[in-house]
Amino acid sequence: MASSSFKSLAPIALVFFILLGTSSAQLTPNFYSSSCPKLFPTIKSVVQSAISSEKRMGASLLRLFFHDCFVNGCDGSLLLDDTSSFTGEKNANPNKGSVRGFDVIDKIKTAVEQACPGVVSCADILAVTARDSVVLLGGPTWNVKLGRRDSRTASQSGANNNIPPPTSSLSNLISKFSAQGLSAKEMVALVGAHTIGQARCTNFRAHVYNDTDIDATFAKTRQSNCPSTSGSGDNNLAPLDLQTPVAFDNNYFKNLVSKKGLLHSDQQVFSGGSTNSQVSTYSTSPSTWSSDFVAAMIKMGDISPLTGKSGEIRKNCRKTN
Ligand code: HEM
Repeated sequence: MASSSFKSLAPIALVFFILLGTSSAQLTPNFYSSSCPKLFPTIKSVVQSAISSEKRMGASLLRLFFHDCFVNGCDGSLLLDDTSSFTGEKNANPNKGSVRGFDVIDKIKTAVEQACPGVVSCADILAVTARDSVVLLGGPTWNVKLGRRDSRTASQSGANNNIPPPTSSLSNLISKFSAQGLSAKEMVALVGAHTIGQARCTNFRAHVYNDTDIDATFAKTRQSNCPSTSGSGDNNLAPLDLQTPVAFDNNYFKNLVSKKGLLHSDQQVFSGGSTNSQVSTYSTSPSTWSSDFVAAMIKMGDISPLTGKSGEIRKNCRKTN
Protein backbone atom coordinates (compact mmCIF):
# COMPACT_ATOMS: atom_id res chain seq x y z
CA MET A 1 0.00 0.00 0.00
CA ALA A 2 2.66 2.46 1.09
CA SER A 3 4.88 1.64 -1.85
CA SER A 4 2.04 1.84 -4.38
CA SER A 5 1.00 5.29 -3.13
CA PHE A 6 4.64 6.33 -3.33
CA LYS A 7 4.72 5.16 -6.94
CA SER A 8 1.60 7.15 -7.76
CA LEU A 9 3.15 10.26 -6.24
CA ALA A 10 6.43 9.83 -8.09
CA PRO A 11 5.44 11.78 -11.23
CA ILE A 12 4.14 14.65 -9.08
CA ALA A 13 7.41 14.69 -7.15
CA LEU A 14 9.31 14.76 -10.42
CA VAL A 15 7.36 17.77 -11.66
CA PHE A 16 7.93 19.45 -8.29
CA PHE A 17 11.70 18.99 -8.50
CA ILE A 18 11.79 20.18 -12.11
CA LEU A 19 9.88 23.31 -11.10
CA LEU A 20 12.17 23.82 -8.11
CA GLY A 21 15.19 23.60 -10.39
CA THR A 22 13.89 26.28 -12.76
CA SER A 23 12.10 28.54 -10.28
CA SER A 24 15.22 30.57 -9.52
CA ALA A 25 15.28 31.87 -13.07
CA GLN A 26 11.63 32.92 -13.06
CA LEU A 27 10.01 35.95 -11.57
CA THR A 28 6.72 35.33 -9.80
CA PRO A 29 4.18 37.60 -8.08
CA ASN A 30 4.20 35.52 -4.87
CA PHE A 31 7.99 35.45 -4.50
CA TYR A 32 7.90 37.13 -1.05
CA SER A 33 4.53 35.82 0.13
CA SER A 34 6.06 33.83 2.97
CA SER A 35 9.36 35.69 3.44
CA CYS A 36 7.79 39.17 3.52
CA PRO A 37 4.00 38.95 3.73
CA LYS A 38 3.55 42.66 4.50
CA LEU A 39 5.67 43.81 1.55
CA PHE A 40 2.88 45.29 -0.58
CA PRO A 41 1.15 47.38 2.12
CA THR A 42 4.56 48.50 3.42
CA ILE A 43 5.60 49.86 0.03
CA LYS A 44 2.22 51.29 -0.82
CA SER A 45 1.93 53.38 2.33
CA VAL A 46 5.28 55.11 1.68
CA VAL A 47 4.40 55.73 -1.99
CA GLN A 48 1.00 57.05 -0.92
CA SER A 49 2.48 59.55 1.50
CA ALA A 50 5.14 60.66 -1.00
CA ILE A 51 2.46 61.28 -3.65
CA SER A 52 0.20 63.11 -1.25
CA SER A 53 3.09 65.46 -0.43
CA GLU A 54 3.85 65.95 -4.11
CA LYS A 55 1.73 64.45 -6.88
CA ARG A 56 4.53 64.62 -9.44
CA MET A 57 6.48 62.09 -7.40
CA GLY A 58 4.33 59.28 -8.86
CA ALA A 59 5.70 60.13 -12.29
CA SER A 60 9.26 60.36 -11.04
CA LEU A 61 9.01 56.94 -9.39
CA LEU A 62 7.55 55.31 -12.50
CA ARG A 63 10.39 56.70 -14.59
CA LEU A 64 13.01 55.21 -12.25
CA PHE A 65 11.86 51.72 -13.16
CA PHE A 66 12.21 52.43 -16.90
CA HIS A 67 15.68 53.91 -16.49
CA ASP A 68 16.73 50.96 -14.34
CA CYS A 69 15.42 48.24 -16.67
CA PHE A 70 17.00 49.67 -19.83
CA VAL A 71 20.53 49.39 -18.43
CA ASN A 72 21.66 45.80 -17.89
CA GLY A 73 18.13 44.78 -16.96
CA CYS A 74 15.97 45.55 -13.92
CA ASP A 75 18.70 45.15 -11.33
CA GLY A 76 18.63 48.31 -9.22
CA SER A 77 21.80 49.58 -10.92
CA LEU A 78 20.30 53.06 -11.32
CA LEU A 79 20.11 53.45 -7.54
CA LEU A 80 23.86 53.15 -6.86
CA ASP A 81 25.54 56.42 -5.89
CA ASP A 82 28.79 57.53 -7.50
CA THR A 83 31.83 57.41 -5.23
CA SER A 84 35.48 58.31 -5.78
CA SER A 85 36.08 54.76 -6.97
CA PHE A 86 32.71 53.90 -8.54
CA THR A 87 30.85 55.46 -11.46
CA GLY A 88 27.14 54.80 -11.37
CA GLU A 89 24.32 55.82 -13.70
CA LYS A 90 22.95 58.87 -11.89
CA ASN A 91 25.20 61.25 -13.80
CA ALA A 92 24.55 59.78 -17.23
CA ASN A 93 22.96 62.25 -19.69
CA PRO A 94 19.36 61.01 -19.44
CA ASN A 95 19.55 61.00 -15.63
CA LYS A 96 21.65 63.94 -14.52
CA GLY A 97 19.58 66.75 -12.99
CA SER A 98 16.50 64.86 -14.14
CA VAL A 99 15.73 61.57 -12.39
CA ARG A 100 14.31 62.04 -8.93
CA GLY A 101 12.71 60.09 -6.12
CA PHE A 102 15.78 58.38 -4.67
CA ASP A 103 14.93 59.64 -1.20
CA VAL A 104 11.50 57.99 -1.50
CA ILE A 105 13.16 54.70 -2.49
CA ASP A 106 15.39 55.05 0.61
CA LYS A 107 12.31 55.50 2.81
CA ILE A 108 10.68 52.45 1.26
CA LYS A 109 13.82 50.38 1.70
CA THR A 110 14.05 51.39 5.37
CA ALA A 111 10.42 50.42 5.97
CA VAL A 112 10.85 47.12 4.10
CA GLU A 113 14.07 46.29 5.97
CA GLN A 114 12.23 46.87 9.23
CA ALA A 115 9.46 44.48 8.18
CA CYS A 116 11.72 41.79 6.67
CA PRO A 117 15.46 42.41 6.98
CA GLY A 118 17.74 41.30 4.17
CA VAL A 119 15.01 39.77 2.03
CA VAL A 120 13.69 42.21 -0.58
CA SER A 121 15.82 43.59 -3.41
CA CYS A 122 15.96 47.23 -4.41
CA ALA A 123 15.22 46.12 -7.99
CA ASP A 124 11.92 44.60 -6.84
CA ILE A 125 11.12 47.70 -4.78
CA LEU A 126 11.37 49.76 -8.00
CA ALA A 127 8.98 47.37 -9.79
CA VAL A 128 6.32 47.52 -7.07
CA THR A 129 6.77 51.27 -6.60
CA ALA A 130 6.18 51.85 -10.31
CA ARG A 131 2.93 49.87 -10.18
CA ASP A 132 1.72 51.59 -7.01
CA SER A 133 2.45 55.02 -8.50
CA VAL A 134 0.36 54.25 -11.58
CA VAL A 135 -2.52 52.95 -9.46
CA LEU A 136 -2.44 55.88 -7.03
CA LEU A 137 -2.69 58.34 -9.95
CA GLY A 138 -5.75 56.55 -11.29
CA GLY A 139 -4.21 54.06 -13.71
CA PRO A 140 -4.59 50.29 -14.09
CA THR A 141 -3.21 47.73 -11.68
CA TRP A 142 -1.36 44.46 -12.29
CA ASN A 143 0.41 41.68 -10.45
CA VAL A 144 4.09 42.59 -10.29
CA LYS A 145 6.45 39.70 -10.90
CA LEU A 146 9.19 39.54 -8.27
CA GLY A 147 12.40 37.75 -7.40
CA ARG A 148 14.93 40.10 -8.97
CA ARG A 149 18.24 40.57 -7.18
CA ASP A 150 20.44 43.66 -7.06
CA SER A 151 23.50 44.29 -9.19
CA ARG A 152 26.95 44.92 -7.81
CA THR A 153 27.71 47.04 -10.86
CA ALA A 154 26.29 49.89 -12.90
CA SER A 155 26.95 51.24 -16.37
CA GLN A 156 27.06 54.94 -17.12
CA SER A 157 27.75 54.23 -20.79
CA GLY A 158 24.84 51.79 -20.84
CA ALA A 159 22.56 54.54 -19.54
CA ASN A 160 23.88 56.96 -22.17
CA ASN A 161 23.47 54.48 -25.00
CA ASN A 162 20.31 52.57 -24.13
CA ILE A 163 17.88 55.20 -22.86
CA PRO A 164 16.61 57.11 -25.89
CA PRO A 165 16.99 60.90 -25.90
CA PRO A 166 14.02 63.23 -26.60
CA THR A 167 15.58 64.15 -29.93
CA SER A 168 14.99 60.57 -31.17
CA SER A 169 13.27 59.86 -34.45
CA LEU A 170 10.60 57.17 -34.60
CA SER A 171 13.08 54.69 -36.05
CA ASN A 172 15.58 55.43 -33.26
CA LEU A 173 12.88 54.88 -30.65
CA ILE A 174 11.91 51.60 -32.26
CA SER A 175 15.50 50.41 -32.37
CA LYS A 176 16.30 51.35 -28.74
CA PHE A 177 13.26 49.42 -27.55
CA SER A 178 13.96 46.55 -29.90
CA ALA A 179 17.45 46.29 -28.37
CA GLN A 180 15.66 45.53 -25.08
CA GLY A 181 13.36 42.95 -26.67
CA LEU A 182 10.39 45.32 -26.82
CA SER A 183 8.36 45.82 -29.99
CA ALA A 184 7.31 49.11 -31.59
CA LYS A 185 3.81 48.43 -30.32
CA GLU A 186 5.10 47.97 -26.76
CA MET A 187 7.15 51.15 -27.10
CA VAL A 188 4.06 53.17 -27.99
CA ALA A 189 2.08 51.66 -25.11
CA LEU A 190 4.92 52.39 -22.66
CA VAL A 191 5.57 55.97 -23.74
CA GLY A 192 1.96 56.65 -22.72
CA ALA A 193 3.60 56.93 -19.27
CA HIS A 194 4.14 60.53 -20.40
CA THR A 195 0.52 61.09 -19.43
CA ILE A 196 2.06 62.09 -16.08
CA GLY A 197 5.07 64.16 -15.08
CA GLN A 198 7.12 67.07 -16.27
CA ALA A 199 9.97 67.83 -18.63
CA ARG A 200 12.62 70.55 -18.62
CA CYS A 201 12.86 73.26 -21.24
CA THR A 202 16.24 71.93 -22.37
CA ASN A 203 14.46 68.77 -23.51
CA PHE A 204 11.59 70.40 -25.42
CA ARG A 205 13.15 73.68 -26.64
CA ALA A 206 14.07 72.49 -30.11
CA HIS A 207 10.64 70.90 -30.61
CA VAL A 208 8.65 73.99 -29.66
CA TYR A 209 10.86 76.41 -31.63
CA ASN A 210 11.99 74.45 -34.68
CA ASP A 211 9.65 71.58 -35.45
CA THR A 212 6.71 71.85 -37.82
CA ASP A 213 4.62 68.90 -36.63
CA ILE A 214 3.35 70.92 -33.67
CA ASP A 215 0.20 72.94 -33.05
CA ALA A 216 1.24 76.60 -33.41
CA THR A 217 -0.72 77.88 -30.42
CA PHE A 218 0.62 75.12 -28.21
CA ALA A 219 4.18 75.83 -29.39
CA LYS A 220 3.76 79.54 -28.48
CA THR A 221 2.44 78.66 -25.02
CA ARG A 222 5.40 76.42 -24.31
CA GLN A 223 7.88 78.98 -25.72
CA SER A 224 6.58 81.52 -23.19
CA ASN A 225 8.25 79.64 -20.34
CA CYS A 226 11.22 78.26 -22.30
CA PRO A 227 13.58 80.91 -23.67
CA SER A 228 14.98 80.15 -27.11
CA THR A 229 18.59 80.64 -26.04
CA SER A 230 20.20 77.50 -24.83
CA GLY A 231 21.43 77.96 -21.26
CA SER A 232 18.62 80.24 -20.17
CA GLY A 233 15.66 78.72 -18.38
CA ASP A 234 16.93 75.22 -19.13
CA ASN A 235 15.29 73.78 -16.05
CA ASN A 236 11.90 75.45 -16.48
CA LEU A 237 9.25 72.77 -16.36
CA ALA A 238 6.23 72.00 -18.50
CA PRO A 239 3.80 69.09 -18.19
CA LEU A 240 4.25 66.16 -20.59
CA ASP A 241 0.44 65.93 -20.72
CA LEU A 242 -0.88 69.47 -20.94
CA GLN A 243 -4.37 68.47 -19.81
CA THR A 244 -4.02 66.21 -16.76
CA PRO A 245 -0.36 65.86 -15.70
CA VAL A 246 -1.11 64.05 -12.45
CA ALA A 247 -3.80 61.69 -13.76
CA PHE A 248 -2.92 58.43 -15.42
CA ASP A 249 -5.35 58.66 -18.34
CA ASN A 250 -5.17 58.56 -22.16
CA ASN A 251 -5.02 62.33 -22.67
CA TYR A 252 -1.38 61.99 -23.69
CA PHE A 253 -2.51 60.19 -26.86
CA LYS A 254 -5.26 62.74 -27.50
CA ASN A 255 -2.60 65.45 -27.31
CA LEU A 256 -0.47 63.65 -29.88
CA VAL A 257 -3.39 63.42 -32.29
CA SER A 258 -3.88 67.19 -31.96
CA LYS A 259 -0.11 67.78 -32.42
CA LYS A 260 0.46 68.82 -28.85
CA GLY A 261 3.19 66.41 -27.85
CA LEU A 262 5.78 68.18 -25.67
CA LEU A 263 8.90 66.29 -26.75
CA HIS A 264 10.08 65.76 -30.29
CA SER A 265 10.17 62.03 -29.50
CA ASP A 266 6.56 62.12 -28.26
CA GLN A 267 5.26 63.64 -31.47
CA GLN A 268 7.34 61.18 -33.50
CA VAL A 269 4.96 58.36 -32.58
CA PHE A 270 2.17 60.32 -34.29
CA SER A 271 3.80 62.04 -37.20
CA GLY A 272 2.60 60.06 -40.17
CA GLY A 273 4.64 56.92 -39.51
CA SER A 274 3.90 53.27 -38.78
CA THR A 275 2.65 53.91 -35.23
CA ASN A 276 0.00 56.53 -36.13
CA SER A 277 -2.94 54.14 -36.13
CA GLN A 278 -2.02 52.70 -32.74
CA VAL A 279 -1.89 56.21 -31.24
CA SER A 280 -5.32 56.94 -32.76
CA THR A 281 -6.70 53.77 -31.20
CA TYR A 282 -5.33 54.64 -27.76
CA SER A 283 -6.70 58.18 -28.06
CA THR A 284 -10.23 56.84 -28.35
CA SER A 285 -9.99 53.59 -26.36
CA PRO A 286 -8.46 54.05 -22.92
CA SER A 287 -9.12 50.40 -22.07
CA THR A 288 -7.08 49.18 -25.04
CA TRP A 289 -4.20 51.34 -23.93
CA SER A 290 -4.53 50.23 -20.29
CA SER A 291 -4.29 46.57 -21.11
CA ASP A 292 -1.42 47.07 -23.58
CA PHE A 293 0.40 49.27 -21.06
CA VAL A 294 0.11 46.67 -18.31
CA ALA A 295 1.35 43.86 -20.57
CA ALA A 296 4.28 45.98 -21.73
CA MET A 297 5.20 47.01 -18.17
CA ILE A 298 5.31 43.35 -17.17
CA LYS A 299 7.48 42.59 -20.18
CA MET A 300 9.81 45.51 -19.43
CA GLY A 301 10.08 44.18 -15.87
CA ASP A 302 11.30 40.87 -17.26
CA ILE A 303 14.40 42.39 -18.89
CA SER A 304 17.47 40.37 -17.80
CA PRO A 305 16.77 40.01 -14.09
CA LEU A 306 19.46 38.68 -11.75
CA THR A 307 17.94 35.67 -10.01
CA GLY A 308 18.93 32.71 -7.88
CA LYS A 309 22.41 33.27 -6.52
CA SER A 310 23.38 36.08 -8.91
CA GLY A 311 23.80 39.57 -7.51
CA GLU A 312 22.79 40.34 -3.94
CA ILE A 313 20.05 41.78 -1.77
CA ARG A 314 21.44 45.23 -1.03
CA LYS A 315 21.07 46.53 2.52
CA ASN A 316 21.14 50.10 1.29
CA CYS A 317 19.89 50.76 -2.25
CA ARG A 318 22.60 53.39 -2.80
CA LYS A 319 25.57 51.05 -2.35
CA THR A 320 26.60 47.46 -2.81
CA ASN A 321 26.92 45.39 0.36
C1 HEM B 1 10.07 56.38 -25.75
C2 HEM B 1 11.17 56.89 -25.31
C3 HEM B 1 11.25 57.87 -24.19
C4 HEM B 1 11.89 59.07 -24.22
C5 HEM B 1 12.67 59.66 -25.39
C6 HEM B 1 11.68 59.69 -22.93
C7 HEM B 1 12.18 60.93 -22.58
C8 HEM B 1 11.83 61.61 -21.44
C9 HEM B 1 12.27 62.94 -21.13
C10 HEM B 1 13.23 63.78 -21.95
C11 HEM B 1 11.67 63.31 -19.97
C12 HEM B 1 11.81 64.64 -19.24
C13 HEM B 1 13.07 64.65 -18.41
C14 HEM B 1 13.49 66.02 -17.96
O1 HEM B 1 13.22 66.99 -18.68
O2 HEM B 1 14.11 66.14 -16.89
C15 HEM B 1 10.86 62.21 -19.54
C16 HEM B 1 10.08 62.19 -18.40
C17 HEM B 1 9.34 61.11 -17.99
N1 HEM B 1 9.36 59.85 -18.55
FE1 HEM B 1 10.11 59.37 -20.35
N2 HEM B 1 10.91 58.88 -22.16
C18 HEM B 1 10.63 57.75 -22.88
C19 HEM B 1 9.92 56.65 -22.43
C20 HEM B 1 9.40 56.52 -21.17
C21 HEM B 1 8.87 55.30 -20.60
C22 HEM B 1 8.87 53.95 -21.34
C23 HEM B 1 8.44 55.59 -19.36
C24 HEM B 1 7.82 54.69 -18.34
C25 HEM B 1 7.23 53.54 -18.58
C26 HEM B 1 8.67 56.99 -19.13
C27 HEM B 1 8.30 57.70 -18.03
C28 HEM B 1 8.53 59.05 -17.84
C29 HEM B 1 7.90 59.82 -16.79
C30 HEM B 1 6.83 59.33 -15.85
C31 HEM B 1 8.44 61.12 -16.88
C32 HEM B 1 8.15 62.31 -15.94
C33 HEM B 1 9.09 62.23 -14.76
C34 HEM B 1 8.94 63.33 -13.73
O3 HEM B 1 8.06 64.18 -13.80
O4 HEM B 1 9.79 63.34 -12.80
N3 HEM B 1 9.29 57.52 -20.23
N4 HEM B 1 10.99 61.18 -20.44
